[in-house]
Amino acid sequence: MTTTASAPATLPERVALTRTYLMCRPDHYTVSYSINPWMRPEDPTDTSVALDQWQTLHDAYVGLGNAVELIDGLPGLPDMVYSANGGFTLDGVAYTARFTHPERQPEGPAYGEWFRTNGFRVHEAREVNEGEGDFLLVGDVILAGTGFRTSEASHRELAQVTGREVVTLRLVDPRFYHLDTALAVLDPEGRDANIAWLPLAFDEASRAELRRRYPDAVEVSEEDARWLGLNSISNGRDVVIASRATGFEASLRERGYAPVGLDLSELLLGGGGVKCCTLELRR
Ligand code: ARG
Repeated sequence: MTTTASAPATLPERVALTRTYLMCRPDHYTVSYSINPWMRPEDPTDTSVALDQWQTLHDAYVGLGNAVELIDGLPGLPDMVYSANGGFTLDGVAYTARFTHPERQPEGPAYGEWFRTNGFRVHEAREVNEGEGDFLLVGDVILAGTGFRTSEASHRELAQVTGREVVTLRLVDPRFYHLDTALAVLDPEGRDANIAWLPLAFDEASRAELRRRYPDAVEVSEEDARWLGLNSISNGRDVVIASRATGFEASLRERGYAPVGLDLSELLLGGGGVKCCTLELRR
């Protein structure tokens, strides 16, 4: 019998929970304007490649036992594929998105309408916010990004709407303009909920706050974050990530998670990855 240094017995047992996600097929996907440093309208995009890559993500979720619901994309709204920005749902309430840039503003009502006809009580946001792009539920707490898109005023509004503690975190690097590009929730539930993150994407006060709350967090390299490796979805065991984030993948394995690497390179041209294409529905 052989024993290795990293005997599996020392790894925590990870438990997977199934969830319900809202996704939007990239039928109208392209990069026709630039509202983040990733987007270069002068470079070509291939909608059929985006569709194939998106389908792989969709099928991975279904394969892991999740339910996936769909919203129809609308012509002229190429970023609608990034459904994470469509709102934030908790306990059957949908807090609607109010986008910063005019190019995406019509998406707010489109997603709002979907929530209304799909069983949510809809709370129309008064303040500018980009949904789950900047609001991440970790255990009982909502981590909330600001600095590029979502306003601090919306953090207060969301706290009122949900009754949850909302922790303001300030993003400082334009490449990581939404919280979900700089921080990943590894354990969506439970008191030991943990995260992975890129410290350089946050201001000093936010870094201190995150270190205090999550002393055992996984820190990823800038290289992994540049493939939007942190833009990932975990069910507590399986973590769907960008396959090019190989360092993050190794850290996850060391901690007993099961990374599922996917290639979403075409959707990266719009500045989005796995998580951006996924909105959790909490009814
Ligand atoms: N092109 C989109 C934008 O800049 C990408 C959104 C990515 N979504 C996300 N949840 N990070 O708004």
